[in-house]
Amino acid sequence: MTQIKIFDTTLRDGEQSPGVNLNQLEKLEIAKQLERLGVDVMEAGFPASSQGDFDAVQKIAQTITKSTVAALARANKNDIDRAWEAIKDAKKPRIHVFIATSPIHMQDKLKKSPEEVVLIAEEMVRYAKEKCTDVEFSAEDASRSELPFLAEIIEKVIAQGATVVNLPDTVGYTTPKEYGEMFKYMKEHVPNINKVDLSTHCHDDLGMALANSIAGVQNGATQVEGTINGIGERAGNVALEELAVTFEIRKDFYSFTTNFILNEIKRTSDIISKLTGMVVPGNKAIVGRNAFAHESGIHQDGVLKNAQTYEIITPALVGVTSNSLVLGKHSGRHAFKDKIVQLGFELSEDKVTEAFQNFKLLTDRKKEVTDDDLFVILMDIQTDV
Ligand code: KIV
Ligand code: ZN
Repeated sequence: MTQIKIFDTTLRDGEQSPGVNLNQLEKLEIAKQLERLGVDVMEAGFPASSQGDFDAVQKIAQTITKSTVAALARANKNDIDRAWEAIKDAKKPRIHVFIATSPIHMQDKLKKSPEEVVLIAEEMVRYAKEKCTDVEFSAEDASRSELPFLAEIIEKVIAQGATVVNLPDTVGYTTPKEYGEMFKYMKEHVPNINKVDLSTHCHDDLGMALANSIAGVQNGATQVEGTINGIGERAGNVALEELAVTFEIRKDFYSFTTNFILNEIKRTSDIISKLTGMVVPGNKAIVGRNAFAHESGIHQDGVLKNAQTYEIITPALVGVTSNSLVLGKHSGRHAFKDKIVQLGFELSEDKVTEAFQNFKLLTDRKKEVTDDDLFVILMDIQTDV
């Protein structure tokens, strides 16, 4: 098994989700839970962006002891100074410097030539390295950059002391094959590539962030960046819980593992959802309300006989107390009888039949029948002589 490092950026890229704004206490609360979850690195924020973010990053750096604490900086001295000031008290600090490398970003956003971008990247990685031994370099929009240029800039920042090189799919544009090939190319064309951790950073604009991250890992990446619940700019980042659980559940197929304490996943997801106000969709993989819920009679019958018929993940693995059989119009008599017992009723077969008919009538009017609804039906039947 190859150990993949997890770089969580919930507190930076995740906080860039439109409408999300965390205060210092909220960020600290999340940071502590991320540490419990076992993230190797947490990106605490972007200190140059505001005094509030600087203070929050500093507080996190002074509190967290097990995970590396990273701070983001654009490739300029002021950002790097602010980042270092904020994280210098951390037990394991990392400065994360980025600059764009794609033709469209260099030309239209930075208004710099590729040669100028290389010089800035070299100079700023050297500058960051004078302050901090752990320096990550990100080539923003790497997936739309020209491969020979990317190889050149990577070799040069490694020569300046970068310890991690990140190749983001900033706009969620790439495909697994393409993204994997980019990592393979760097492995083959950058002479000193094995001196650094190579990292993925995938956005989910086309819904391929997980597949792309896995393709990166299969082609030599040793670090994956993402967020919990997949929050982040636009369609968000790769959901780290999906990656960690995929590696666990399909260890017969993939030979990768992470340091995630898997049964802390649900708690982490809940805390982040509550504090960011970003509701987790019911059908979200691993952490959605319906991820372990079964509604159809056929599925409920199967699960009652052997949970593995319709469950590939044991709820307890990710910290969910139990699966749930949701009673609705597709539910069958088997799950209904099970629920009667759970609610403490003992009914004859005739009464069960009558109660089941009343329940089915109700399901035509109500999408989900609650325990309270059932209680009324069952009380009626039980007291009816
Ligand atoms: O998506 C991106 O390119 C980023 C960088 C700042 C790493 O978030
Ligand atoms: Zn990003």
